[in-house]
Amino acid sequence: NTPASGSSHAKIILIGEHSVVYHQPAIALPLPAVRESVTLTLRSDNVQQLISRYYTGARHDGPQQLQGINQLVDELLVRFNAADAGFDLTINSHLPAERGMGSSAATAVAIIRALYRFFDQPLSHEQLLVDANISEKIIHGNPSGIDVATASAENPIWFMAGTQPVSIPFHLHGYLVIADSGIHGQTGKAVRAVAQLRETDPFLADQAIKGLGRLAYTAKSALANDRLADLGKVFDQSQVFLQRLGVSHVRLDEMIGIAKQNGALGAKLTGGGMGGCMICLAANEATATQIRLALAKSGVAQTWLQPLKSEEH
Ligand code: MEV
Repeated sequence: NTPASGSSHAKIILIGEHSVVYHQPAIALPLPAVRESVTLTLRSDNVQQLISRYYTGARHDGPQQLQGINQLVDELLVRFNAADAGFDLTINSHLPAERGMGSSAATAVAIIRALYRFFDQPLSHEQLLVDANISEKIIHGNPSGIDVATASAENPIWFMAGTQPVSIPFHLHGYLVIADSGIHGQTGKAVRAVAQLRETDPFLADQAIKGLGRLAYTAKSALANDRLADLGKVFDQSQVFLQRLGVSHVRLDEMIGIAKQNGALGAKLTGGGMGGCMICLAANEATATQIRLALAKSGVAQTWLQPLKSEEH
């Protein structure tokens, strides 16, 4: 009956959002510094309470957005013969919600780890991915699985839907600046918009999706061979394809312009788009700082700095 916790972290897609849904490869990076943790504490009554920044109260009385989490918790409780247990589920998150940083996947991963730990059950990585898909399917409609794979990964991953994610060789030096537009992105809506474009303009959609797939291979080689400028070009070119797919946002385009004017080697949206975050590359810390200051001055909600370091260092 001792409380049990599980944790996870944010993710950043370097290349391949949206095209990954159509079985093109993608590369994503775990952000261990931006963490989320979940603690399950047993109660003496039979109330199942959720305690979080966005909602506190009986978990089934919460807003519509909790439907995915509730379904996940329901299924796990049945599996562990504890459907009637009373508990507090406390979510402590440093991830902004709906900004392309994988907050729903991070929550799912942390909840699953906490529940398996609480009920003292072994949890394989494969099972974790399968379970997290329960809530992701409800929240995003047609998830590729990349968010969950990265929220539970220690290293940058090469991801193709339906296959096991693999760690990729990473020999790059540089800085990644992440900036939150403050506008709520809607992954489900963006994924549906791309699906619709594939119906109305299959040629355009297919060209963009395949183009993003090719760029993932270029990015993989740039990461393996310390070619920062090439990765920057991949960012710029993938942003053009993402714009054609209709998932950017005027504010993101503006932020990308500011980053480029301040020395970024390349910039793009990250995650579902239609709001959310932008990422860009800087060759050194001074340039990264200049970009962050310029973005802050233009009113972005928050920025993060992630040094990209070779894995042997
Ligand atoms: C969302 O982080 C990434 C998307 O490609 C959706 C998915 O892969 O499930 C937009």
